[in-house]
Amino acid sequence: MSQKIQAAITGVHGYLPDFVLTNQLLEQMVDTNDEWIRSRTGILERRILKGKDKGTSDLAAPAVKGLLEKTNTHPDEIDLIVVATTTPDMKFPATANITARKAGLGLTPGFDINAACSGFLFSLNTCAKFIESGTYKKVILVGADKMSSIIDYSDRSTCIIFGDGAAAVLLEANEEGYGLQDSIMKSDGSGEEFLHLKAGGSRKPATHETIDAGEHYVFQDGQPVFKAAVKGMADVSGAIMKRNNLEGDDIAWLVPHQANKRIIDATARFMGVDDQRVMLNIERYGNTTSGTIPLCLWDYEKQLKKGDNLILAAFGGGFTWGATWLKWAYDPS
Ligand code: UT7
Repeated sequence: MSQKIQAAITGVHGYLPDFVLTNQLLEQMVDTNDEWIRSRTGILERRILKGKDKGTSDLAAPAVKGLLEKTNTHPDEIDLIVVATTTPDMKFPATANITARKAGLGLTPGFDINAACSGFLFSLNTCAKFIESGTYKKVILVGADKMSSIIDYSDRSTCIIFGDGAAAVLLEANEEGYGLQDSIMKSDGSGEEFLHLKAGGSRKPATHETIDAGEHYVFQDGQPVFKAAVKGMADVSGAIMKRNNLEGDDIAWLVPHQANKRIIDATARFMGVDDQRVMLNIERYGNTTSGTIPLCLWDYEKQLKKGDNLILAAFGGGFTWGATWLKWAYDPS
């Protein structure tokens, strides 16, 4: 008897821009220091996309191209492309459409999903439904953000955290029990107060005043977000383990959103997962928003084995948060 159809990740590829913004460079830009940034966040450096008219699609498209090449997939085989992003190239058309054109995906349908830092997780679950229902066989999901486009580099409370980057995963139908197993997603709209970008939307379109007031930059009240993130990520990660009878030792890898190393450590401790089984790249890329989780998968791909239990966990603006349990579907090649 064949198993139900599940959505499995069958390839991952990332792209990071060349320019490296180190803590030392930030020391010359704002009143901060390497010691503070390292100890409060775990970040040493982040990547920045430079160049006129370069947008998020310029991060996403090379990730997609690399993924197609690496997985030996012809563009015609792709049924759908979704881009998780908070920093679309433009309000419309969707960055997925622009990315599809740049990556040679022809007429592949595509759309964007914005769930801030939980964007990749929410999108992964959305894409999985197209596969589980039998609608599509091969879906590309890209987590991509050019955070530098909405950061005020004179605001030391945000400019030290964020970076630019993207990674794409290929999702395919699996009937052998691998892929997405279970997921919990949560949102709380009262989080808007603590993490948002005020202007440029329909509520407050761009004017000279909004620009003068710096309202096109990320606003974050760090401490309440920190507290909600620690609680939120632990709650959903614990709940997904409990309802699937998973103990800390059953988890091969925790794949956490990379916002702050202290949040990651607290989540891992709560789950009973030791440091060696926690994916971490925040020291090199900072917080790339939708890019963090797939970039982790890309960085650690060679260490992943078929059947490994992974818990993906994220927290971000909205507030949005969630955890997904998946069984990794392939061995390193
Ligand atoms: O991914 C989306 C979700 N976002 C998050 O999960 C982020 C959650 N929040 C955080 O990660 C942390 O709150 C931050 C990293 C943003 C800030 O760390 P913190 O430990 O919460 O610092 P704080 O805001 O409470 O500030 C502590 C002190 C303050 O000085 P005083 O008032 O104690 O004299 C700040 O002015 O540190 C000061 N400070 C800095 N000092 C040097 C704030 N930013 C900096 C800085 N360099 N960059």
